[in-house]
Amino acid sequence: MLKNHADPVKISQGIDIVSVPRMKLAAERQGPRFLDRIFTPEERRYCESKRMKYEHYAARFAAKEAAMKAFEIRRQNRFRFREIEIRRRPTGKPVIHLSREARKRFGLPMRCEIEMSMAHEREYAVATVLLLVPAGKS
Ligand SMILES: CC(C)(COP(=O)(O)OP(=O)(O)OC[C@H]1O[C@@H](n2cnc3c(N)ncnc32)[C@H](O)[C@@H]1OP(=O)(O)O)[C@@H](O)C(=O)NCCC(=O)NCCS
Repeated sequence: MLKNHADPVKISQGIDIVSVPRMKLAAERQGPRFLDRIFTPEERRYCESKRMKYEHYAARFAAKEAAMKAFEIRRQNRFRFREIEIRRRPTGKPVIHLSREARKRFGLPMRCEIEMSMAHEREYAVATVLLLVPAGKS
């Protein structure tokens, strides 16, 4: 990855905020197919295991939108929400996982790093994503 920390790095960032009650309403109105279209089975399992599950869904939705902004992906590029998966380190820290194919389709260089953070409460969930690319590689 970005081995030499003295190398210049280009940083691109994305941020998003999602209303938790709106996420709940959409899921209740449109049924499980709505959630299955956006979230991977692992994301679904994690959120469904939580008492305030729509906060966790909303945070992950915000993270996917924030990633789109950081990666400069346009919806017209046949972007699928499930291509961006939010996984968790053992500490609970969230990380973005992309398949090799998704990285290619999004035009991300192999030598890039992605950092993210999320927070949520009853009304809103927020997420930020940083894309770090060695300068001259994008
Ligand atoms: C981690 C912590 C900061 C979360 O804060 P919070 O106010 O409870 O909740 P927030 O809404 O702000 O954030 C929740 C999100 O924080 C993220 N998070 C959890 N643990 C994290 C960590 N170790 N590092 C970074 N982010 C973390 C997750 O994305 C979580 O959302 P999710 O459960 O939907 O995945 C809080 O639990 C804390 O201070 N814990 C004590 C320190 C700790 O346990 N550290 C990790 C173990 S080494």
